[in-house]
Amino acid sequence: MTPSNSGPVLETRHLTKSFGDFRAVGPVDLRVGRGTVHALVGPNGAGKTTLFHLLTGFQPPSGGTILLDGHQVTGLAPERIARLGVARSFQVTSLFEQSTAVEHVELALMSGSGLGRRFWRSDRLLTRYRDRSLDLLDQVGLAPWADDPAGQLPYGRRRALELAIALALDPKLLLLDEPTAGMGVEDVERTVELIGRVRAGRTVVLVEHNMSVVGSLADRVTVLQRGRVLAEGPYDQVREDERVIEAYLGAGHG
Ligand SMILES: Nc1ncnc2c1ncn2[C@@H]1O[C@H](COP(=O)(O)OP(=O)(O)O)[C@@H](O)[C@H]1O
Ligand SMILES: [Mg+2]
Repeated sequence: MTPSNSGPVLETRHLTKSFGDFRAVGPVDLRVGRGTVHALVGPNGAGKTTLFHLLTGFQPPSGGTILLDGHQVTGLAPERIARLGVARSFQVTSLFEQSTAVEHVELALMSGSGLGRRFWRSDRLLTRYRDRSLDLLDQVGLAPWADDPAGQLPYGRRRALELAIALALDPKLLLLDEPTAGMGVEDVERTVELIGRVRAGRTVVLVEHNMSVVGSLADRVTVLQRGRVLAEGPYDQVREDERVIEAYLGAGHG
């Protein structure tokens, strides 16, 4: 096996992020195995979203390194990291209200192709993007709403659209920040089923508060508290961990 496909897909070494005197992340040593779903859990403010910002190049780390397939990506621009196969969804929806679902995915496909808008007028390319977009919308169960403006989609479907946008890059590493936040039971179930499907052939890092979602999807769980790793292991082990129970109860989680 070559080094590029034997080790972890993602590894951080002593990764830190500080805002002034406040250390939001780190030091964090994380190893995410190829093909796994790896959950990041922890009380609000633990540094989960900030960690995603570091992993995707949205924010530069204050220290430490990030390795993707064994290669240093620390400090690379978000576009570079995206091209290397890392895509994310956001904790809060970030869609254009007026653009339709299919237009959102087309745009994501175009920005990922490297062709950009230069070929916008090529009918053949447009058709290709449209077909692929409709296919992705179908995968996330949104095909019937392809031509609806994003602003008119109910919340659960907006989140599904964001997943389709992330999938447009065909990422090897998919980072999902609270994909079920604010969802009712039915949307949560649909989302779990969806993530279970789209994980095939890729690696997923999932920030999630809903422990039944974590339990049904995650191969491994890392618990963060105040920017540091409190516990790491298989779900069944981590959920029994006294320090984890303490951290959650202490933070007011029931
Ligand atoms: N840009 C920023 N400037 C200052 N503090 C920040 C910034 N971003 C996040 N923080 C702080 O870092 C900590 C971790 O935040 P965050 O990563 O959003 O936590 P989580 O996603 O685990 O809830 C919080 O205390 C938050 O207030
Ligand atoms: Mg967060």
